[in-house]
Amino acid sequence: MKIDVLTLFPAMFAGPLDESIIKRAREAGLLDLAIHNLRDYTRDRHKTVDDRPFGGGPGMLLKPEPIFEAVEKLKREKSRVILLSPAGRPFNQAVARELAQVEDMLLVTGHYEGFDERIRERLADDELSIGDYILTNGALPAMVVVDAVTRLLPGVLGDDDSAKEESFSAGVAGLEYPQYTRPAEFRGMKVPEVLLSGNHAEIAKWRTHQAALRTKERRPDLL
Ligand SMILES: C[S@@+](CC[C@H](N)C(=O)[O-])C[C@H]1O[C@@H](n2cnc3c(N)ncnc32)[C@H](O)[C@@H]1O
Repeated sequence: MKIDVLTLFPAMFAGPLDESIIKRAREAGLLDLAIHNLRDYTRDRHKTVDDRPFGGGPGMLLKPEPIFEAVEKLKREKSRVILLSPAGRPFNQAVARELAQVEDMLLVTGHYEGFDERIRERLADDELSIGDYILTNGALPAMVVVDAVTRLLPGVLGDDDSAKEESFSAGVAGLEYPQYTRPAEFRGMKVPEVLLSGNHAEIAKWRTHQAALRTKERRPDLL
């Protein structure tokens, strides 16, 4: 998968996407990630990317010219251009699975009060929100999308079954069941007997039941 990100803050991406599973995916060539600085697509001396909103109101908006120029330059035939915005469709595990099938994405991140509407109208194929709260800019949302999608690419997780057996996945309609590792008893807290039994059918039954209970208690909206 190829992902390009357009941002005013390329330095924010150093670190989170250079560690652990995402780092290995990049090294293995499963993810080809490129971060582009929006200011490189300005033409004036001050590298201006924003301006005041017509009609008044607080703050500044990202102006169309640099974003149009950057997207037209960076977009390839198969690229899906995705704006990160609180007004986008909610990003969740189903959307992550959908995007894991896309070969090529260009994530366009905002800042200030957001985008001039013509960017949305003319350039965006899709618009995603990572939740009902407002962040200062779209770098963190873009990283969330890159992380969630990359771990679903074939070969990225050591054991591909781990993506099938976790919360929000097809194998587990709602939340994941509780899990335990050694020791079997810690500070008086015992691991449920059934998990030590070696009876795989009983273990599967217990897990399904626990997952359903937990989902009903904590996230009935998922049922
Ligand atoms: C301060 S926000 C703009 C908020 C905008 N005025 C509004 O009310 O929707 C600046 C940028 O951060 C990003 N952003 C902030 N919160 C986000 C969220 N929940 N999901 C996706 N992107 C977000 C977007 O790229 C947005 O353009």
